[in-house]
Amino acid sequence: MKKIIFIYFFIFSISFAQQKTIEQRVDSVLVLMTLDEKVGQLVQYSGGWDTGTKTSKPKAGHDQLAREGKIGSLLNIFGAEITKNIQKVAVEESRLKIPLIFGLDVIHGFRTTFPVPIAEASSWDPVAVELSARWQAIEATASGIHWTFNPMVDIARDPRWGRIVEGSGEDAYLGSKMAAARVKGYQGDDLSLSNTIVACAKHFAGYGAAEGGRDYNTADFSERTLREIYLPPFKAAVDAGVGTFMAAFNEIGGIPSSASVHLLTNILRDEWKFDGFVVSDWNSIGELIPHGVAKDLKHAGELGFKAGVDMDMEASAYFNHLSQLVTEKKISMQQLDESVRRILRIKFRLGLFDDPFKYCNAEIETQTLRSEKLFKASLDMARRSIVMLKNEKNILPLKKDLRQIAVIGPLAESKNDPLGPWNQQGNPDDVVTVLKGLQNKLGDKSNIVYSEGCSVDGDSKAGFEHALNVVKNSEIVILCLGESLNMSGEARSRATIDLPGVQEDLAREIVKSGKPVIVVLMNGRPLTINFLSENANAILEAWFLGVQSGNAIADVLFGDYNPSGKLPVTFPKHIGQIPMYYNFKNTGRPYNPNDFYTSYYLDYSNTPLYPFGFGLSYSSFEYSDPVLSKKEISKNESLRISVNVINTGQYDGEEIVQLYIRDLVGSATRPIKELKDFAKIFLKAGETKKVEFTVTPEKLKFYDINMNYVVEPGEFKIFVGTNSVDVKEALFSVVD
Ligand code: GLC
Repeated sequence: MKKIIFIYFFIFSISFAQQKTIEQRVDSVLVLMTLDEKVGQLVQYSGGWDTGTKTSKPKAGHDQLAREGKIGSLLNIFGAEITKNIQKVAVEESRLKIPLIFGLDVIHGFRTTFPVPIAEASSWDPVAVELSARWQAIEATASGIHWTFNPMVDIARDPRWGRIVEGSGEDAYLGSKMAAARVKGYQGDDLSLSNTIVACAKHFAGYGAAEGGRDYNTADFSERTLREIYLPPFKAAVDAGVGTFMAAFNEIGGIPSSASVHLLTNILRDEWKFDGFVVSDWNSIGELIPHGVAKDLKHAGELGFKAGVDMDMEASAYFNHLSQLVTEKKISMQQLDESVRRILRIKFRLGLFDDPFKYCNAEIETQTLRSEKLFKASLDMARRSIVMLKNEKNILPLKKDLRQIAVIGPLAESKNDPLGPWNQQGNPDDVVTVLKGLQNKLGDKSNIVYSEGCSVDGDSKAGFEHALNVVKNSEIVILCLGESLNMSGEARSRATIDLPGVQEDLAREIVKSGKPVIVVLMNGRPLTINFLSENANAILEAWFLGVQSGNAIADVLFGDYNPSGKLPVTFPKHIGQIPMYYNFKNTGRPYNPNDFYTSYYLDYSNTPLYPFGFGLSYSSFEYSDPVLSKKEISKNESLRISVNVINTGQYDGEEIVQLYIRDLVGSATRPIKELKDFAKIFLKAGETKKVEFTVTPEKLKFYDINMNYVVEPGEFKIFVGTNSVDVKEALFSVVD
């Protein structure tokens, strides 16, 4: 025992000494810095004229700023040589030789594109998602990148919002698991390694609550909703050790997030003890002027800095006014030093002071980019991201000897769209289209005939005739419909969420042919696909799966991969039902078909087209009734829940067993159901497995009437099942 204690003490003292060394090294640099050099560390400029462009070079003048120590970071530049050149200027020609930190939106891949984040979230597989982020970091660091502006952890309950594609859907618990997985994947166990990248939890906070789903729009919700819905994934990122945060564009109830002391100081620093740094979003400090809280850029800079934004992305507010604000004593030198310290701390943790060129090895770059391992990793993640929404009469998986397959639709041969938005340096030439994936799978065993039928959003039906002729001579139709990649992502909100253009008209004509129709949907948000849901024989939700899209889809279509994905977001039947999410409140007049005066629509039901957590498999799974370790527990006691899951199908497969709870009576209203755990299990055909969950007091806590985060005694329901609707339930009580 003594030996173990000594070992622990020895390790602790080393790590403490190391940590102490970083803090000492930070202070040893800080003490030498002039006011202008300190301000310089808080300045970030972009190499491109617009965010996320395919730009890789610093702009004219950036060299000189680096030479004068007036810039601390660049974004949107990459490449071993390009980053090396400007880093050399900073660390060899500036007075204090402080290295620059290079940031980039590595959202779902750098050069080898992975599935978009909402697709990866559909895997409900944090291990796989962490591995995906790890591979993305390996590739991006090989091209000189130190810092990704990811994970985007904004909870999104409105599919009109274009950025729903960048996140992990509507639920705080699933979103928290995905946030932690991505932070760990990007940052690894040691930020100082040359293949780890510092992550950035964004956009802090409440960005996904934009009214009307219109990007950048006002968000207005209670402190309770902030704490229960929007903050948990950010806290999960902090607990996972995220090194940076990004402040959001939007206001929350009158206070722009980039000027919010409550968010950036009271919660992030004082409550959560976050010791990394906060970067603004693109000019989000400058936007305090149109928000109407700052009279000019100097005032905006003062508000942003005092709220807790350490680094100014592209607004030039700090570049032009921070020194003056310090001289005028509107900002103290101590406050400035604290921000500089945070930025230097991350640069030290990254090892940039020890070796500023460790990410600039052109040989490693050539060997790493687009490697076979990266393509294989992207394929594995793509398979796990597919959600099967319908499979009437088990028409899927298809046989591999069909005489002729009609491949129809504007997304069947698209090389661009499967990359999805924010694909960074993704290259359409690397994309395996659906058509190519089928050809790869079947070779000459089947005759595969393609016809586009129509464009994604045009109104021309001129291609219908050719498509219908191809269908007429085929045994089966694979119909590839959805959105183009630029219909979701930033500044890409839609006021409708139907299939764009005349795609549904094409589907109607094809269904009339009487041929079996398998729909492959590629989209960045839930769509109101009622006609397809009623009339197609099968539907795969494929989102935008990246470079291996066609191979992953073909693997599922022909049974070489049994689909296991589940929806991370609700699919409404009609846009009028929005906002629609599974963890809604019961209200005082919950819908009752026998009572006119209850909460419902005259023209649509209250139920979704597909619920949160929904997804089919080629297997079928049956659940026993849940067994509770106790019927009654005290407030600080845990409850164990077990359920037997049987694979009653013919295929081996994975099932995501979901655990929800409901607090039946609280001092504040509680959702009718909240996801509190899930387990992804593999079952051979006919196999039974016992799945156990532990409901800890932490999982029963909520913000009570006084906003205290507590467990209240009373009756609770637990629900266990294959999605948020098909569940088995049991009751238990919590006593004082
Ligand atoms: C954009 C986005 C943000 C991104 C940043 C840098 O406007 O809001 O998510 O990381 O600018 O490209």
